[in-house]
Order: sequence, then C-alpha cells, then structure tokens
Amino acid sequence: MAQPKGDMGLIGLAVMGQNLILNAADHGYTVVAFNRTVSKVDHFMENEAKGKSIIGAHSIQELVDNLKRPRRIVLLVKAGAAVDAFIEQLLPYLEKGDIIIDGGNSHYPDTNRRYEELKGKGIYFVGSGVSGGEEGARYGPSLMPGGAEEAWPHIKEIFQAISAKSDGEPCCDWVGPAGAGHYVKMVHNGIEYGDMQLITEAYDIMKRVGGFSDKEIGDVFAKWNTGVLDSFLVEITRDILRYDDKDGTPLVEKIMDSAGQKGTGKWTAINALDLGMPVTLIGEAVFARCLSSLKSERIRAASILPGPEVSKDAIKDKQQFVDDLEQALYASKIISYAQGFMLIREAGKTYNWKLNNPAIALMWRGGCIIRSVFLAEITKAYRENPELENLLFNKFFTDAITKAQSGWRKTIALASTQGIPTPAFSTALSFYDGYRSERLPANLLQAQRDYFGAHTFRVLPECASEDLPEGQDIHVNWTGRGGNISASTYQA
Ligand code: 6PG
Repeated sequence: MAQPKGDMGLIGLAVMGQNLILNAADHGYTVVAFNRTVSKVDHFMENEAKGKSIIGAHSIQELVDNLKRPRRIVLLVKAGAAVDAFIEQLLPYLEKGDIIIDGGNSHYPDTNRRYEELKGKGIYFVGSGVSGGEEGARYGPSLMPGGAEEAWPHIKEIFQAISAKSDGEPCCDWVGPAGAGHYVKMVHNGIEYGDMQLITEAYDIMKRVGGFSDKEIGDVFAKWNTGVLDSFLVEITRDILRYDDKDGTPLVEKIMDSAGQKGTGKWTAINALDLGMPVTLIGEAVFARCLSSLKSERIRAASILPGPEVSKDAIKDKQQFVDDLEQALYASKIISYAQGFMLIREAGKTYNWKLNNPAIALMWRGGCIIRSVFLAEITKAYRENPELENLLFNKFFTDAITKAQSGWRKTIALASTQGIPTPAFSTALSFYDGYRSERLPANLLQAQRDYFGAHTFRVLPECASEDLPEGQDIHVNWTGRGGNISASTYQA
C-alpha cells in the first residue's frame, strides 16, 4: 500500500468539523474526513472539500489507513456517549503512540476518565476546548488542548497553525494534564454566560429606564466597542440591535425572552460550589437564564406582584447615565474574570494541575467567543506575575475598578429604585464589597451555628484568653440549658 498522506483525521462533519477541516487544508495539511452517516462524507467531498487536500473516508478503517503515524484523530461529535462510542470503534485500528483528540464541549470529568483509560492502552488522549463558533473554526479558533502531554509535540504545529492569532501569537497553547483543557474551556463558557448576561442587563436598563430605542442602544454598543469594552460579544450585540425584520422593526424584540443553555455554564457554577470558590457572577448568569425560562409563571407574577413604575425623569443627564452604565459593565466584567481565574487557580491546586495563567488569557484573547481587548490586559497582568493571587491586585485592574466604582454603584442604585433586575451587576458589586471587607458578619453566623448545633467557633487572635484560647474549636453553652458536648467540625 502507498504511504498514507493524511496529517490529521477528523470525525464529525457537522458545522464545526467541516470548517476545521477546511481551515487545516488552507494551511497545507491533508485531512482525512469521516462521518457516521457516510453520505455526508460524499456530499462534503463533492462540494466544500472539492479540489482541496481532503480525503473522504467511508469507514473507520479507511480513515486510520490514510493517516501518517503517529495518527492524529480529532473527534468533533456530540459530547457524551458518542465520544466513547467512537473511541471504542477506533481502538482496534490504532497503535501505541497514536493520538485521539476530543474537540467537543465534553465535561472535564469525562475527559479525566478517558485520558486514564487510554493511557493504559498506550494511546495519547487530548481533550481540547475549541471556541469561536462556525467562523472561528473556519478562520482561526481559540484552541485549549490538555491531556497526554506526550501528544503535544505531535499536534503543536497543526494546532497553532490553524488557531487564531493575537498580535502574531497563536491563541493555542498546552493547558495542562488530564481534563485541564476541557476544564479551561468550561470556565471560558461560564465567563461567556457572565459577559452575555451583563450585556443584556445594560440593554434592559437603557431600554426600560432610559427609554432608548434599539437603534440608540445599538449606537451605544458601537461606541463602547471602540473603548475598554471592545469585544466580540459587544460587537455582535451592536449588530443584533441594528438588525430589522422584514417589517422594518428590530427582530430582537420579536424573540421569546426565554434563554436556553447546553450546560457548560451550569457545570462551571457547580464546580465553583464544589471547590468553595465564590464565582457568583457566573452562578447568577446561569440562574438568570433559569428565571427567564419561567416565562408563563412570570406573566402571572407580572399581574400580581407590584413594584415601582419607571419614573419618566429617572435620568437627569443622558450622557452621564450611559457613561455610568459603561463603567458598571466594565467593573462587573473585571469581577467576573477575577472570579474565573480564582476558580482556575483553585482547580490547579485541587486537581494538582500546573495551569499556565498567561497562556490561558492569551488563548482567550482571540478566536473565541469572549475575545476582547480586555484580555490583552489580563495576559499582561499574568505575564508580569504568573502567580498573581487575584486579578484585582494587579495595578491596572485596581485602578480600573477604582475609577469605575462610582458609576457602577449609581447604575445599580438607579436600576433598583426603578425596579429593573440587575443580577450580574449587583452580585459583582456585592462580591467586591465583600472581598474588600476585612471584617464580615460571619462571626455572628458562627455564633448561630454554635448556638443551635454546637458546631464550635474560633476566636480572633486579638481576643484570645484563657477561656477562649486561640486556634481551638470552642463551644459555649449559650443558654445554660444545652450540654457541653460539641459537634465534630469539618469543612465541606
Ligand atoms: C464557543 C461556545 C460554544 C457553546 C455555545 C452555546 O466557545 O464557541 O462557548 O462552545 O456551545 O456558546 O452554549 P449555550 O447553549 O450553553 O449557551
């Protein structure tokens, strides 16, 4: 048999798969394409793939036979059972040292498991985040690979060639072991949920408090997109608000206000709870989608539950209102990214992954859904200090949030007095005020726990005494009725 020509195989010819193949072919690689419904391969070969360095395979064996060794096979199929099923089908044809790359939105514990299972068989498994939607896949996505590091030298060149570039640097680097790549993609998606929620809150305030038309709001987003908020999501929001339906009215106003979700934001919030990290903004963004989907209940509630009417003269100075709102969005976004990196940091410790923060920020800088000018500053902050304890401690961000604070507070106060919900703006500010509080009311909470359940507390070092010794779990008989036996202490 002639020497195989394929540099990379790809299974799954849906939108992302087809575009990624065309992207790789544009960069001079020969890609072998396979799809479960084989007619799709023929259709692809006769149309989009025609005349390009793409080989259509009609079976798994044909796919494998056409690949150079070590074989590099990308799966772009629905996360879950389909990934396991294709791995099973591939295994009889693969040899030690071959590489399987899962480019779907797989849940990272699944990637951990697959990585371990395949390690035992001598196959290198890589779980790679792929972000950027259809256009990203075609012209340069953000790629976040992690798993078997032995695979990296064999996939680095192709991955970095087809990925997006930011200031000439590829938005693709090695993330870390096992499921780290999919973990980082999961947090990316959580942040995506947060950014989207913040933008919708700004739109809602402009519409309901400011009385702005969609075109006017589109103009505000257009302006913001030339400043610190310059980002893909602000850019598409501008375009969405300017898009009219056939009858000349904005299409967006005809869309049912009930948000869907595929689960990656929820996974991030659940993981934050598991790791004990206050990633409040992503949590609120997920819950805001849940609340929006209670549409029929909300319609009933709207006629029963009172709230303030929006006052006609709530806004004194329109420009000031827009500027304050911009600052509120910016400050909340800083908090969201600070929280996202807090989570990544904790995951690194808990799962024993050495994660590369500057590289993660760079991977998100271009190609992906959350790409923005802002991420260049985050990259800079982590390059200056890869071990930065919190993004908010970097001078650029400390200064930015200090400057944004007054507009942020004014915006939330205004929305609250006018009865407009701002879950993400508000939780960001509450986090900020909590994080910068040397003293929080958790002392009272600890007392309550000890009062009703003998759960014990510790004393502040400066208040320690013979009766209240420092560093010990103390129980007090608050009522004189309870016993002196304390419950066991443990941290969930
Ligand atoms: C990306 C996106 C993508 C995600 C969609 C839909 O990075 O390209 O994150 O992976 O699937 O944005 O997510 P939801 O359906 O959960 O909104």
